[in-house]
Amino acid sequence: MPLSTARFTTSDPDRHLARIVERLKPDAQVTGPGRAKVTLAGGGCSVLAAGDEVLVIAAAADAGGLASVQEEIGRRLLAAGDVQAGDVQAADVRAADVRAGEGERVAWAEAVSGEQVELVSPIVEDYLLAHCTPADEVLRELAATTREVTGRSAGMQVSADEGALLSMLARMVGARRAIEVGVFTGYSSLCIARALPADGKLIACDVSTEWTDIAKPFWKRAGVADRIELRIGPAVDTLRALPDEPAFDFAFVDADKPGYPAYYEEIVPRLRPGGLLVLDNVFLGGRVLDPAFQGAAQVAMRQVNDAIARDERLDSVMLPVRDGVTLARRR
Ligand SMILES: C[S@@+](CC[C@H](N)C(=O)[O-])C[C@H]1O[C@@H](n2cnc3c(N)ncnc32)[C@H](O)[C@@H]1O
Repeated sequence: MPLSTARFTTSDPDRHLARIVERLKPDAQVTGPGRAKVTLAGGGCSVLAAGDEVLVIAAAADAGGLASVQEEIGRRLLAAGDVQAGDVQAADVRAADVRAGEGERVAWAEAVSGEQVELVSPIVEDYLLAHCTPADEVLRELAATTREVTGRSAGMQVSADEGALLSMLARMVGARRAIEVGVFTGYSSLCIARALPADGKLIACDVSTEWTDIAKPFWKRAGVADRIELRIGPAVDTLRALPDEPAFDFAFVDADKPGYPAYYEEIVPRLRPGGLLVLDNVFLGGRVLDPAFQGAAQVAMRQVNDAIARDERLDSVMLPVRDGVTLARRR
């Protein structure tokens, strides 16, 4: 249960956020417009000004840590006078959300684990799926065969709407030369390869011949087999063996998560200006948001998400598509 929120309804969230940062110094710092971060020994919180409220998101590695972050933040906010009666600025704060005074406390929402955070409601997901270009017969049959042959592993395949997104993005950047890391049974490869011109090339990296063999007849049926160059072996070796030149227009990463930082490092210098890197599963089912999860996959994903957001070579945006998709465009 390491994530919890509290909301301050206020008529001037930016001014209120600035006051919070001022009063929680040196533990608080502004991290962007309308955003601040508070770092404490056992965890910390993000403070965001948006709409007519200030939102505080507390996070810690375990329940005990979260309780002390909540306690400390609540105590210091109240003690700092943010919500005291008679304070002109704090008079904007509605008493129902945060109450000041003897024995009063910040009202935190019930704590949840990152895995419990519903990124997109299944109702919305279903609606999105029903309102994008539908998968054609080859893609539908590939999905059905993948379920039959690989069982539970079929969950690794990109969804039809994500496949449509990949085709659209590759077309929009006018991709001719593309890289894919993580082929599985070839659904995403097919979506990308279709968006390339007839003489285009997708270098598709995977370690499994068993899974990629399933892809081949479907690539052939779709008429894109000659655009896909399958490279079997650890993707990092394949990428490092590529010429060290900005020759690629498009890249899609959807493979082993601990490998993401290396894939990102190898791919970005090989993208031409305007070229697009797309990364899948950047939320890891919400676990990436939750510091309680410290597995290799989560640590690597946080590292790459942070690095991309800071990377001056790239413009990036993170989309709540399925399990999170990052688009990073080479400047
Ligand atoms: C999530 S699946 C890819 C799904 C695929 N994009 C699709 O739409 O069907 C991940 C793939 O990454 C591959 N993989 C895992 N580790 C790898 C590595 N070190 N190098 C290359 N591929 C790897 C796996 O064999 C698996 O096929």
